[in-house]
Amino acid sequence: MFGRIKEELKLNVSFCRDQFPSQCWDWAFFENAGGSFVPNSVIKRMTEYMTECQVQPGAPFPAATLAQERMDKGHQNMAEMIGADVDEVVLGPSTSANIDVLSRALRLLWEEGDEVIVTDLNHEANSGPWRRLEATGIRIVEWPINPETAELDVRLLDQLLTEKTRLVALPHVSNITGDINDVKAITARVHEGGAMACVDGVAFAPHRFVDVKDWDVDFYTYSLYKTYGPHIGLMYGKKKHLLNAKSQHHYFIPETATSYKMNPAGPQHEIIASLSGISDYIDAVAAEHLTDVPNDLFSRTKAVYELFARHETELAKIFIDWANAHEKVQVIGRTTTETDLRAPTFSIKVEGHSSEKIANTVTVDKIAVRHGDFYARRLVTSVGIDDFDDGVVRCSMAHYNTVAEVERLITALDKAIAAN
Ligand SMILES: Cc1ncc(COP(=O)(O)O)c(C=O)c1O
Repeated sequence: MFGRIKEELKLNVSFCRDQFPSQCWDWAFFENAGGSFVPNSVIKRMTEYMTECQVQPGAPFPAATLAQERMDKGHQNMAEMIGADVDEVVLGPSTSANIDVLSRALRLLWEEGDEVIVTDLNHEANSGPWRRLEATGIRIVEWPINPETAELDVRLLDQLLTEKTRLVALPHVSNITGDINDVKAITARVHEGGAMACVDGVAFAPHRFVDVKDWDVDFYTYSLYKTYGPHIGLMYGKKKHLLNAKSQHHYFIPETATSYKMNPAGPQHEIIASLSGISDYIDAVAAEHLTDVPNDLFSRTKAVYELFARHETELAKIFIDWANAHEKVQVIGRTTTETDLRAPTFSIKVEGHSSEKIANTVTVDKIAVRHGDFYARRLVTSVGIDDFDDGVVRCSMAHYNTVAEVERLITALDKAIAAN
């Protein structure tokens, strides 16, 4: 197992940027929480698959064998990166679709009157599917957020857990606030209460290392198109839970086919094959920075994400110092930047200004941000923003953003606020 990397080691951001198509850098891009850029390695893997083996995999001729190998490799690599077994990883169309399927598969195990705890901190993807079970006799219990801080109080959860609670659905990080919840501690409490935790990691996984076994989560979902990959969702589930969950696929797909039975859409072949391009990228960054490169992908990923986190924290500090000092800017979420407490996703509300206008105005300076509720409408309204369409201005960073870009963002925001 690999230890911590040297403290003085910094991310070589230009090296990272060189791994992506050069067009990515024409604009200062701060809509990363909507979807990240894709490195050349992913594009190469997808192109290779589509040019060399775009046939139905698994048949006895060479192209079909190659197709199967490449899909298996993509799947395997994603499992290794998060410390899971391959049959604990479902690759489905999106996080929204994966959680929807999961909710239906688990419902078949539950009784009328059983309870699911949800919170408005969730993106709708980890809220709506559970709430829809109410119509089938499941009791939905709200874990309220603090409307002032947009945070969850973990002590409240203890009061909500009952012997009927089957599952708690929560985000690791909100896609609005960027605040990181202590998933390991929360999951331990959920387990003490005899329930399972379904954690939405979509807004966490692009920024910090995912370690499902260490956290002991029951289900963990994220979207690979936000972690430098193509449009597809990854759902981890503990093997025993996936075996128990009722198949949502054709009647002849066995219950033991844990990854397959939870994806009624069927696998997206070239997309799954291209996932090896994400681990290629991690490997390239590891080789560039580490003298002692670990043998296993899990440890290489951990080391690389530590470098990402260091750089992101530096960027976050610049932004938060500006926001804290600006009398008209209100940050929705924590105003600190400790690596363990927040990801570099910032949503702001500017006093007396429309979020839409600000997001539109900064485009003049080739700054890409976005406004709205980002499908976390319940959260946006819970913190008192009634006009959810206008919502917040979200500025979300990734490890490949530079200090100069964040400075450009701030200058453009200052200009937009002064002009509007
Ligand atoms: C926190 C969070 N959860 C879930 C989702 C939904 O992911 P998908 O687009 O893969 O369904 C998003 C998408 O933006 C998100 O930000």
